[in-house]
Amino acid sequence: MIGAWLDIGPVDQITPGSARTLKVQGGEEIAVFRTEGNQFHALVNACPHKRGPLSQGIVHGGVVTCPLHNWNISLTSGEALGDDKGCVPVIPLRVDAGRIYLLRSALVAHSATDLRAA
Ligand code: FES
Repeated sequence: MIGAWLDIGPVDQITPGSARTLKVQGGEEIAVFRTEGNQFHALVNACPHKRGPLSQGIVHGGVVTCPLHNWNISLTSGEALGDDKGCVPVIPLRVDAGRIYLLRSALVAHSATDLRAA
């Protein structure tokens, strides 16, 4: 399974309660979140409502609130919560020895560049 997981850098580049984004070839963007409880999650950075940038939302518990119209999106399932309907793809993520890895096959393309501040 060598190379199945893409190393995107150390965990401490993302402060708790925030997110960073990762560009992949083809124009899609992945949002990588770190919760206040130090859980890590990755979603396509596009709200299921009108593609708002989830990386700029408020992270609380295992949820991000979209900055555009305040939908709440589960960081674990990508689903809109409450009365809202929709789902954004979740990218499998693991943390190993202080570094974050994303499952390459789940990325839209396999040539991710670097993380940058959301
Ligand atoms: S685009 Fe996210 S709530 Fe409307």
